Amino acid sequence: MIYSELMPQQFDIRLDTLTGASAGSPEGAIVLSTGAPGDKTFYLETFGCQMNVHDSEKVAGVLLGRGYRQVETIDAAKLVLYNTCSIREKAAQKIFSRLGSYRKYPGEEKIIGVLGCVAQQEGEEIFERSPWVRLVCGSASYSKLPDLIAELEAGNRRVMGLDTDTDATFETEITRRDNPFRAYLTIIEGCDKACSYCVVPFTRGPERSRASASVLKEVRRLADAGYSEIQLLGQTVNSYRDPSPKRKTFAELLVAVAAIPGIRRVRFTTSHPRDFGRDIVEAIDSVPELCDHVHLPVQSGSTRILRAMLRTYTREEYLEKIAMIREARRPISVTSDIIVGFPGETEEDVEETLSLLDAAQYDGVFAFQYSPRPNTSARNMPDAIPEEEKGRRLARVMDRQREIQRARNEALVGETFEVLVDGASRRPGQWSGRCSNNRILNFTSPQEKLLGEYVPVRVASASPNCLVGEHVV
Ligand code: 5AD
Ligand code: SF4
Repeated sequence: MIYSELMPQQFDIRLDTLTGASAGSPEGAIVLSTGAPGDKTFYLETFGCQMNVHDSEKVAGVLLGRGYRQVETIDAAKLVLYNTCSIREKAAQKIFSRLGSYRKYPGEEKIIGVLGCVAQQEGEEIFERSPWVRLVCGSASYSKLPDLIAELEAGNRRVMGLDTDTDATFETEITRRDNPFRAYLTIIEGCDKACSYCVVPFTRGPERSRASASVLKEVRRLADAGYSEIQLLGQTVNSYRDPSPKRKTFAELLVAVAAIPGIRRVRFTTSHPRDFGRDIVEAIDSVPELCDHVHLPVQSGSTRILRAMLRTYTREEYLEKIAMIREARRPISVTSDIIVGFPGETEEDVEETLSLLDAAQYDGVFAFQYSPRPNTSARNMPDAIPEEEKGRRLARVMDRQREIQRARNEALVGETFEVLVDGASRRPGQWSGRCSNNRILNFTSPQEKLLGEYVPVRVASASPNCLVGEHVV
Protein backbone atom coordinates (compact mmCIF):
# COMPACT_ATOMS: atom_id res chain seq x y z
CA MET A 1 0.00 0.00 0.00
CA ILE A 2 1.53 3.33 -0.94
CA TYR A 3 -1.37 5.63 -0.52
CA SER A 4 -4.35 5.65 1.71
CA GLU A 5 -7.30 7.87 2.04
CA LEU A 6 -9.73 8.47 4.83
CA MET A 7 -12.07 10.83 3.14
CA PRO A 8 -15.79 10.83 2.67
CA GLN A 9 -16.91 8.22 0.20
CA GLN A 10 -20.05 7.48 -1.66
CA PHE A 11 -20.64 3.89 -0.72
CA ASP A 12 -23.03 2.03 -2.87
CA ILE A 13 -23.90 5.07 -4.87
CA ARG A 14 -23.36 5.46 -8.55
CA LEU A 15 -22.26 8.89 -9.59
CA ASP A 16 -24.06 9.60 -12.74
CA THR A 17 -21.93 11.94 -14.75
CA LEU A 18 -19.63 13.53 -12.26
CA THR A 19 -15.96 14.41 -12.43
CA GLY A 20 -14.12 12.79 -15.26
CA ALA A 21 -10.89 11.89 -13.45
CA SER A 22 -9.76 8.49 -14.59
CA ALA A 23 -12.90 7.94 -16.56
CA GLY A 24 -12.35 5.52 -19.37
CA SER A 25 -11.16 2.04 -19.97
CA PRO A 26 -9.82 0.04 -17.06
CA GLU A 27 -6.09 -0.43 -16.94
CA GLY A 28 -4.80 -3.08 -19.29
CA ALA A 29 -8.01 -3.05 -21.25
CA ILE A 30 -6.95 -0.78 -24.06
CA VAL A 31 -8.27 -2.06 -27.34
CA LEU A 32 -6.84 -0.50 -30.42
CA SER A 33 -9.13 -0.22 -33.33
CA THR A 34 -7.98 -0.67 -36.86
CA GLY A 35 -11.16 1.03 -37.98
CA ALA A 36 -11.07 4.68 -38.96
CA PRO A 37 -12.48 6.90 -36.26
CA GLY A 38 -13.71 10.34 -37.29
CA ASP A 39 -10.79 12.65 -37.99
CA LYS A 40 -11.70 15.18 -35.37
CA THR A 41 -12.42 12.99 -32.38
CA PHE A 42 -10.52 12.88 -29.11
CA TYR A 43 -10.36 10.70 -26.02
CA LEU A 44 -8.91 12.33 -22.91
CA GLU A 45 -8.01 10.53 -19.71
CA THR A 46 -6.98 12.36 -16.58
CA PHE A 47 -4.77 11.29 -13.69
CA GLY A 48 -3.97 13.17 -10.50
CA CYS A 49 -5.27 16.19 -8.69
CA GLN A 50 -8.19 18.56 -9.20
CA MET A 51 -5.87 20.97 -11.00
CA ASN A 52 -5.35 18.27 -13.61
CA VAL A 53 -9.06 17.51 -13.78
CA HIS A 54 -9.69 21.18 -14.45
CA ASP A 55 -6.81 21.48 -16.93
CA SER A 56 -8.45 18.62 -18.82
CA GLU A 57 -11.71 20.55 -18.91
CA LYS A 58 -9.79 23.42 -20.52
CA VAL A 59 -7.92 21.12 -22.93
CA ALA A 60 -11.29 19.69 -23.98
CA GLY A 61 -12.50 23.28 -24.45
CA VAL A 62 -9.54 24.09 -26.74
CA LEU A 63 -10.29 21.02 -28.85
CA LEU A 64 -14.05 21.60 -28.98
CA GLY A 65 -13.29 25.15 -30.12
CA ARG A 66 -11.34 23.66 -33.03
CA GLY A 67 -14.24 21.49 -34.10
CA TYR A 68 -13.28 18.26 -32.32
CA ARG A 69 -15.77 15.95 -30.70
CA GLN A 70 -15.05 14.11 -27.44
CA VAL A 71 -15.59 10.36 -27.45
CA GLU A 72 -15.82 7.92 -24.56
CA THR A 73 -13.54 5.17 -25.86
CA ILE A 74 -10.03 4.97 -27.22
CA ASP A 75 -11.45 2.90 -30.05
CA ALA A 76 -13.60 5.72 -31.33
CA ALA A 77 -10.87 8.37 -31.09
CA LYS A 78 -8.38 9.75 -33.56
CA LEU A 79 -6.53 11.77 -30.92
CA VAL A 80 -5.80 9.96 -27.64
CA LEU A 81 -4.58 12.21 -24.83
CA TYR A 82 -3.35 11.41 -21.34
CA ASN A 83 -3.20 14.20 -18.82
CA THR A 84 -0.61 12.88 -16.43
CA CYS A 85 0.50 13.20 -12.81
CA SER A 86 4.04 12.81 -11.49
CA ILE A 87 3.61 13.66 -7.82
CA ARG A 88 4.66 10.14 -6.82
CA GLU A 89 6.65 7.60 -8.79
CA LYS A 90 3.77 5.13 -9.05
CA ALA A 91 1.60 7.72 -10.80
CA ALA A 92 4.33 8.41 -13.37
CA GLN A 93 4.98 4.69 -13.97
CA LYS A 94 1.33 4.15 -14.68
CA ILE A 95 1.56 6.48 -17.68
CA PHE A 96 4.48 4.63 -19.20
CA SER A 97 2.63 1.35 -18.80
CA ARG A 98 -0.39 2.90 -20.56
CA LEU A 99 1.81 4.17 -23.37
CA GLY A 100 3.40 0.73 -23.65
CA SER A 101 0.03 -0.61 -24.80
CA TYR A 102 0.48 1.30 -28.04
CA ARG A 103 3.85 -0.26 -28.83
CA LYS A 104 2.62 -2.64 -31.45
CA TYR A 105 0.33 -0.12 -32.95
CA PRO A 106 0.83 -0.40 -36.67
CA GLY A 107 -0.42 2.65 -38.46
CA GLU A 108 -1.10 6.30 -38.29
CA GLU A 109 -4.77 6.01 -37.43
CA LYS A 110 -4.30 7.40 -33.96
CA ILE A 111 -2.36 10.33 -32.62
CA ILE A 112 -1.12 9.74 -29.09
CA GLY A 113 -0.40 12.73 -26.86
CA VAL A 114 1.00 13.10 -23.36
CA LEU A 115 0.04 16.21 -21.40
CA GLY A 116 0.54 17.35 -17.83
CA CYS A 117 3.20 16.85 -15.25
CA VAL A 118 4.92 13.73 -16.64
CA ALA A 119 5.14 15.52 -19.99
CA GLN A 120 6.72 18.57 -18.37
CA GLN A 121 9.13 16.48 -16.35
CA GLU A 122 10.21 13.88 -18.89
CA GLY A 123 10.01 16.01 -22.04
CA GLU A 124 11.81 14.54 -25.03
CA GLU A 125 12.53 11.40 -23.07
CA ILE A 126 8.92 10.41 -23.77
CA PHE A 127 9.54 10.40 -27.52
CA GLU A 128 12.60 8.23 -26.89
CA ARG A 129 10.84 5.75 -24.63
CA SER A 130 7.63 5.71 -26.64
CA PRO A 131 8.41 6.75 -30.24
CA TRP A 132 4.78 6.34 -31.22
CA VAL A 133 3.85 9.41 -29.15
CA ARG A 134 3.37 12.50 -31.34
CA LEU A 135 2.45 15.24 -28.88
CA VAL A 136 4.09 16.17 -25.60
CA CYS A 137 2.82 19.25 -23.81
CA GLY A 138 3.70 20.07 -20.22
CA SER A 139 1.39 21.49 -17.60
CA ALA A 140 3.29 24.77 -17.55
CA SER A 141 2.99 25.19 -21.35
CA TYR A 142 -0.72 24.88 -22.01
CA SER A 143 -0.99 28.35 -23.50
CA LYS A 144 0.86 26.80 -26.48
CA LEU A 145 -1.62 23.96 -26.86
CA PRO A 146 -3.75 25.47 -29.65
CA ASP A 147 -0.59 26.06 -31.75
CA LEU A 148 0.64 22.54 -31.07
CA ILE A 149 -2.67 21.04 -32.16
CA ALA A 150 -2.54 23.18 -35.33
CA GLU A 151 0.94 21.82 -36.06
CA LEU A 152 -0.31 18.25 -35.64
CA GLU A 153 -3.20 18.97 -37.96
CA ALA A 154 -0.72 20.37 -40.49
CA GLY A 155 0.91 16.94 -40.49
CA ASN A 156 3.94 17.51 -38.24
CA ARG A 157 5.16 14.17 -36.98
CA ARG A 158 6.13 15.31 -33.50
CA VAL A 159 5.27 18.43 -31.59
CA MET A 160 6.35 19.45 -28.15
CA GLY A 161 5.62 22.30 -25.73
CA LEU A 162 7.75 22.41 -22.63
CA ASP A 163 8.56 26.03 -21.85
CA THR A 164 7.48 27.25 -18.50
CA ASP A 165 5.40 30.30 -19.32
CA THR A 166 6.39 32.45 -16.43
CA ASP A 167 3.73 35.08 -17.05
CA ALA A 168 0.93 33.20 -18.80
CA THR A 169 -1.92 31.35 -17.14
CA PHE A 170 -3.99 28.78 -18.99
CA GLU A 171 -7.16 30.57 -20.01
CA THR A 172 -9.48 29.34 -22.70
CA GLU A 173 -12.55 30.67 -24.37
CA ILE A 174 -14.38 27.42 -23.92
CA THR A 175 -14.02 25.13 -20.93
CA ARG A 176 -16.01 21.94 -21.10
CA ARG A 177 -16.93 21.38 -17.46
CA ASP A 178 -17.60 17.82 -16.32
CA ASN A 179 -19.67 18.50 -13.24
CA PRO A 180 -23.01 20.15 -13.88
CA PHE A 181 -23.22 21.85 -10.48
CA ARG A 182 -19.68 22.56 -9.31
CA ALA A 183 -17.31 24.59 -11.44
CA TYR A 184 -13.55 24.56 -10.85
CA LEU A 185 -11.64 27.73 -11.43
CA THR A 186 -7.86 28.15 -11.16
CA ILE A 187 -6.89 31.41 -9.48
CA ILE A 188 -3.19 30.71 -9.01
CA GLU A 189 -0.95 28.43 -11.05
CA GLY A 190 2.45 26.95 -10.20
CA CYS A 191 4.19 27.04 -6.83
CA ASP A 192 7.00 29.14 -5.38
CA LYS A 193 7.40 27.11 -2.22
CA ALA A 194 10.23 24.63 -2.36
CA CYS A 195 9.15 21.69 -0.20
CA SER A 196 12.08 19.33 -0.43
CA TYR A 197 10.01 16.29 -1.51
CA CYS A 198 7.83 17.99 -4.10
CA VAL A 199 8.09 17.96 -7.87
CA VAL A 200 5.31 20.51 -8.44
CA PRO A 201 7.52 23.63 -8.67
CA PHE A 202 9.37 21.85 -11.49
CA THR A 203 6.34 20.57 -13.35
CA ARG A 204 4.01 23.52 -12.93
CA GLY A 205 6.51 26.33 -12.84
CA PRO A 206 6.53 29.51 -10.77
CA GLU A 207 3.50 30.97 -9.05
CA ARG A 208 1.24 33.23 -11.14
CA SER A 209 -2.09 34.62 -9.91
CA ARG A 210 -4.99 35.68 -12.07
CA ALA A 211 -6.32 39.23 -11.83
CA SER A 212 -9.27 39.43 -9.44
CA ALA A 213 -11.51 41.13 -12.03
CA SER A 214 -10.92 38.26 -14.46
CA VAL A 215 -11.76 35.70 -11.75
CA LEU A 216 -14.95 37.55 -10.82
CA LYS A 217 -16.00 37.91 -14.45
CA GLU A 218 -15.68 34.18 -14.97
CA VAL A 219 -17.64 33.43 -11.78
CA ARG A 220 -20.44 35.72 -13.00
CA ARG A 221 -20.49 33.82 -16.28
CA LEU A 222 -20.59 30.51 -14.42
CA ALA A 223 -23.43 31.68 -12.19
CA ASP A 224 -25.37 32.76 -15.29
CA ALA A 225 -24.76 29.32 -16.76
CA GLY A 226 -26.41 27.74 -13.71
CA TYR A 227 -23.43 26.68 -11.56
CA SER A 228 -24.13 27.28 -7.89
CA GLU A 229 -20.88 25.94 -6.43
CA ILE A 230 -17.45 27.33 -7.26
CA GLN A 231 -14.21 25.67 -6.26
CA LEU A 232 -11.18 27.94 -6.45
CA LEU A 233 -8.01 26.03 -7.21
CA GLY A 234 -4.31 26.48 -6.70
CA GLN A 235 -1.40 24.40 -5.37
CA THR A 236 -1.18 27.04 -2.66
CA VAL A 237 -4.49 28.76 -3.26
CA ASN A 238 -4.22 31.06 -0.26
CA SER A 239 -0.88 32.43 -1.46
CA TYR A 240 -2.99 34.26 -4.07
CA ARG A 241 -1.71 37.78 -4.86
CA ASP A 242 -3.88 39.90 -7.07
CA PRO A 243 -1.59 41.18 -9.87
CA SER A 244 -4.01 44.01 -10.70
CA PRO A 245 -4.09 47.46 -9.02
CA LYS A 246 -7.15 46.29 -7.03
CA ARG A 247 -4.72 44.22 -4.92
CA LYS A 248 -7.49 42.09 -3.42
CA THR A 249 -6.28 39.75 -0.71
CA PHE A 250 -7.28 36.09 -0.93
CA ALA A 251 -9.89 36.57 1.82
CA GLU A 252 -11.33 39.59 -0.02
CA LEU A 253 -11.50 37.59 -3.23
CA LEU A 254 -13.37 34.81 -1.40
CA VAL A 255 -15.92 37.28 -0.10
CA ALA A 256 -16.35 38.88 -3.54
CA VAL A 257 -16.87 35.51 -5.23
CA ALA A 258 -19.43 34.53 -2.60
CA ALA A 259 -21.35 37.77 -3.18
CA ILE A 260 -22.08 37.01 -6.83
CA PRO A 261 -25.81 36.33 -7.28
CA GLY A 262 -26.55 32.65 -7.89
CA ILE A 263 -23.44 31.39 -6.08
CA ARG A 264 -24.44 29.34 -3.06
CA ARG A 265 -21.16 27.64 -2.20
CA VAL A 266 -17.52 28.60 -2.53
CA ARG A 267 -14.70 26.14 -1.80
CA PHE A 268 -10.96 26.52 -2.15
CA THR A 269 -8.05 24.11 -2.18
CA THR A 270 -5.17 23.64 -1.28
CA SER A 271 -4.17 26.00 1.52
CA HIS A 272 -0.59 26.32 2.71
CA PRO A 273 -0.35 26.72 6.49
CA ARG A 274 2.25 29.52 6.31
CA ASP A 275 -0.08 31.82 4.37
CA PHE A 276 -3.23 30.86 6.26
CA GLY A 277 -4.33 33.97 8.14
CA ARG A 278 -7.09 34.91 10.52
CA ASP A 279 -8.79 36.95 7.79
CA ILE A 280 -9.72 33.70 5.99
CA VAL A 281 -11.37 32.31 9.13
CA GLU A 282 -13.19 35.60 9.68
CA ALA A 283 -14.45 35.54 6.09
CA ILE A 284 -15.80 31.98 6.51
CA ASP A 285 -17.35 32.95 9.80
CA SER A 286 -19.26 35.88 8.39
CA VAL A 287 -20.19 34.70 4.87
CA PRO A 288 -22.47 31.63 4.81
CA GLU A 289 -21.71 30.94 1.14
CA LEU A 290 -18.08 30.21 2.04
CA CYS A 291 -18.02 26.49 2.82
CA ASP A 292 -16.99 25.49 6.31
CA HIS A 293 -14.09 23.35 5.21
CA VAL A 294 -10.34 23.97 4.95
CA HIS A 295 -7.80 21.56 3.46
CA LEU A 296 -4.62 22.44 5.34
CA PRO A 297 -1.91 19.80 4.75
CA VAL A 298 0.52 19.41 7.63
CA GLN A 299 2.69 16.64 6.04
CA SER A 300 4.33 15.68 9.36
CA GLY A 301 3.77 16.22 13.08
CA SER A 302 7.49 16.47 13.80
CA THR A 303 9.17 19.88 13.66
CA ARG A 304 12.47 18.17 12.83
CA ILE A 305 10.94 16.51 9.75
CA LEU A 306 9.00 19.66 8.81
CA ARG A 307 12.32 21.50 8.78
CA ALA A 308 13.87 18.83 6.52
CA MET A 309 10.81 19.10 4.29
CA LEU A 310 11.32 22.92 4.12
CA ARG A 311 7.69 23.46 5.08
CA THR A 312 8.48 26.81 6.79
CA TYR A 313 6.43 26.17 9.95
CA THR A 314 6.82 24.18 13.15
CA ARG A 315 4.39 21.73 14.70
CA GLU A 316 3.43 24.39 17.26
CA GLU A 317 2.85 27.08 14.63
CA TYR A 318 0.67 24.67 12.67
CA LEU A 319 -1.37 23.79 15.74
CA GLU A 320 -1.89 27.51 16.39
CA LYS A 321 -3.53 27.75 12.96
CA ILE A 322 -5.78 24.83 13.88
CA ALA A 323 -6.69 26.53 17.16
CA MET A 324 -7.55 29.69 15.24
CA ILE A 325 -9.88 27.69 12.97
CA ARG A 326 -11.50 25.92 15.94
CA GLU A 327 -12.24 29.29 17.58
CA ALA A 328 -14.54 30.25 14.71
CA ARG A 329 -18.19 30.79 15.57
CA ARG A 330 -19.33 28.03 13.23
CA PRO A 331 -17.61 24.63 13.13
CA ILE A 332 -15.12 24.40 10.24
CA SER A 333 -13.99 20.99 9.01
CA VAL A 334 -10.28 20.54 8.55
CA THR A 335 -8.59 17.93 6.37
CA SER A 336 -4.93 17.24 5.77
CA ASP A 337 -2.21 15.44 3.82
CA ILE A 338 0.47 13.41 5.59
CA ILE A 339 3.68 11.92 4.23
CA VAL A 340 5.18 8.97 6.11
CA GLY A 341 8.67 7.57 5.66
CA PHE A 342 10.46 10.79 4.75
CA PRO A 343 14.26 10.14 4.85
CA GLY A 344 15.53 10.03 8.41
CA GLU A 345 12.05 9.79 9.97
CA THR A 346 12.45 8.08 13.36
CA GLU A 347 10.00 6.26 15.60
CA GLU A 348 9.72 9.46 17.68
CA ASP A 349 8.83 11.45 14.57
CA VAL A 350 6.08 8.95 13.73
CA GLU A 351 4.76 9.25 17.30
CA GLU A 352 4.67 13.03 16.87
CA THR A 353 2.61 12.66 13.71
CA LEU A 354 0.20 10.33 15.53
CA SER A 355 -0.14 12.73 18.44
CA LEU A 356 -0.71 15.59 16.01
CA LEU A 357 -3.65 13.65 14.60
CA ASP A 358 -5.11 13.53 18.11
CA ALA A 359 -4.52 17.24 18.61
CA ALA A 360 -5.76 18.41 15.22
CA GLN A 361 -8.87 16.18 15.12
CA TYR A 362 -9.05 16.13 11.34
CA ASP A 363 -12.23 15.33 9.48
CA GLY A 364 -10.33 13.59 6.70
CA VAL A 365 -6.75 12.70 5.80
CA PHE A 366 -4.87 11.69 2.67
CA ALA A 367 -1.71 9.85 3.70
CA PHE A 368 1.16 8.92 1.40
CA GLN A 369 4.38 6.95 1.55
CA TYR A 370 7.27 9.19 0.69
CA SER A 371 8.37 8.73 -2.90
CA PRO A 372 11.66 10.27 -4.10
CA ARG A 373 11.11 12.55 -7.10
CA PRO A 374 13.48 13.87 -9.78
CA ASN A 375 15.10 17.29 -9.19
CA THR A 376 13.85 17.57 -5.62
CA SER A 377 16.32 18.31 -2.85
CA ALA A 378 15.13 15.40 -0.69
CA ARG A 379 15.92 12.93 -3.44
CA ASN A 380 19.45 12.20 -2.29
CA MET A 381 18.94 12.58 1.44
CA PRO A 382 20.50 9.79 3.50
CA ASP A 383 18.62 7.32 5.73
CA ALA A 384 15.93 6.24 3.32
CA ILE A 385 13.15 4.29 5.04
CA PRO A 386 12.52 0.77 3.64
CA GLU A 387 9.24 0.42 1.73
CA GLU A 388 7.79 -2.20 4.13
CA GLU A 389 8.41 0.14 7.04
CA LYS A 390 6.76 3.02 5.18
CA GLY A 391 3.76 0.73 4.67
CA ARG A 392 3.57 -0.04 8.40
CA ARG A 393 3.76 3.66 9.27
CA LEU A 394 1.04 4.47 6.76
CA ALA A 395 -1.20 1.82 8.34
CA ARG A 396 -0.56 3.23 11.83
CA VAL A 397 -1.48 6.73 10.70
CA MET A 398 -4.65 5.53 9.02
CA ASP A 399 -5.69 3.34 11.97
CA ARG A 400 -5.42 6.27 14.34
CA GLN A 401 -7.21 8.62 11.97
CA ARG A 402 -10.02 6.12 11.34
CA GLU A 403 -10.89 6.14 15.06
CA ILE A 404 -10.82 9.93 15.17
CA GLN A 405 -13.16 10.12 12.19
CA ARG A 406 -15.46 7.48 13.61
CA ALA A 407 -15.93 9.56 16.76
CA ARG A 408 -16.24 12.86 14.88
CA ASN A 409 -18.81 11.49 12.46
CA GLU A 410 -20.81 9.69 15.17
CA ALA A 411 -21.10 12.99 17.01
CA LEU A 412 -23.07 14.31 14.02
CA VAL A 413 -25.87 11.74 14.27
CA GLY A 414 -29.16 13.57 14.75
CA GLU A 415 -27.92 16.81 13.14
CA THR A 416 -29.40 18.18 9.93
CA PHE A 417 -27.22 19.45 7.10
CA GLU A 418 -27.99 21.10 3.83
CA VAL A 419 -26.58 18.96 1.01
CA LEU A 420 -26.11 19.67 -2.65
CA VAL A 421 -27.44 16.50 -4.28
CA ASP A 422 -24.93 15.31 -6.88
CA GLY A 423 -25.43 11.56 -7.17
CA ALA A 424 -28.25 9.10 -7.68
CA SER A 425 -28.14 5.42 -6.90
CA ARG A 426 -29.55 2.83 -9.28
CA ARG A 427 -31.84 1.92 -6.44
CA PRO A 428 -34.81 4.26 -6.41
CA GLY A 429 -35.04 6.70 -3.54
CA GLN A 430 -31.28 6.62 -2.74
CA TRP A 431 -29.28 9.76 -3.23
CA SER A 432 -25.94 11.25 -2.41
CA GLY A 433 -24.90 14.79 -1.68
CA ARG A 434 -22.19 16.88 -0.14
CA CYS A 435 -22.48 19.05 2.95
CA SER A 436 -20.86 22.47 3.12
CA ASN A 437 -18.28 20.85 5.44
CA ASN A 438 -17.31 18.55 2.52
CA ARG A 439 -18.72 15.37 4.06
CA ILE A 440 -20.65 13.10 1.78
CA LEU A 441 -24.11 12.22 2.98
CA ASN A 442 -25.89 9.27 1.39
CA PHE A 443 -29.59 9.52 2.01
CA THR A 444 -33.06 8.34 1.17
CA SER A 445 -35.85 10.54 -0.10
CA PRO A 446 -39.38 9.94 -1.29
CA GLN A 447 -38.90 12.75 -3.82
CA GLU A 448 -37.76 12.45 -7.40
CA LYS A 449 -35.55 14.71 -9.50
CA LEU A 450 -33.24 15.86 -6.73
CA LEU A 451 -30.00 16.21 -8.71
CA GLY A 452 -28.61 19.73 -8.37
CA GLU A 453 -31.00 20.60 -5.52
CA TYR A 454 -30.03 21.82 -2.05
CA VAL A 455 -31.98 19.82 0.50
CA PRO A 456 -31.93 19.32 4.29
CA VAL A 457 -30.82 15.85 5.38
CA ARG A 458 -30.85 14.45 8.93
CA VAL A 459 -27.92 12.17 9.81
CA ALA A 460 -29.13 8.76 11.01
CA SER A 461 -25.88 6.82 11.21
CA ALA A 462 -22.19 7.31 10.68
CA SER A 463 -18.98 5.44 9.92
CA PRO A 464 -15.43 6.79 9.56
CA ASN A 465 -15.88 7.64 5.88
CA CYS A 466 -19.54 8.16 5.45
CA LEU A 467 -22.74 9.58 6.81
CA VAL A 468 -26.15 8.09 6.10
CA GLY A 469 -29.36 9.99 6.55
CA GLU A 470 -32.82 10.86 5.38
CA HIS A 471 -34.27 13.83 3.56
CA VAL A 472 -36.21 16.08 5.91
CA VAL A 473 -39.36 16.81 3.94
N1 5AD B 1 6.01 11.57 -1.93
C1 5AD B 1 4.86 11.31 -1.27
N2 5AD B 1 3.84 12.18 -1.21
C2 5AD B 1 4.01 13.38 -1.80
N3 5AD B 1 3.20 14.45 -1.90
C3 5AD B 1 3.82 15.39 -2.63
N4 5AD B 1 5.03 14.96 -3.01
C4 5AD B 1 5.18 13.70 -2.51
C5 5AD B 1 6.22 12.74 -2.56
N5 5AD B 1 7.36 12.98 -3.19
C6 5AD B 1 1.89 14.52 -1.25
C7 5AD B 1 1.82 15.69 -0.27
C8 5AD B 1 0.94 16.66 -0.98
C9 5AD B 1 0.02 15.74 -1.75
C10 5AD B 1 -0.70 16.37 -2.88
O1 5AD B 1 0.89 14.75 -2.24
O2 5AD B 1 1.20 15.22 0.91
O3 5AD B 1 0.24 17.51 -0.11
FE1 SF4 C 1 4.56 21.01 -3.52
FE2 SF4 C 1 5.08 22.36 -1.26
FE3 SF4 C 1 4.25 23.68 -3.49
FE4 SF4 C 1 2.52 22.11 -2.16
S1 SF4 C 1 3.54 23.97 -1.33
S2 SF4 C 1 2.85 22.16 -4.40
S3 SF4 C 1 3.86 20.45 -1.44
S4 SF4 C 1 6.21 22.56 -3.21
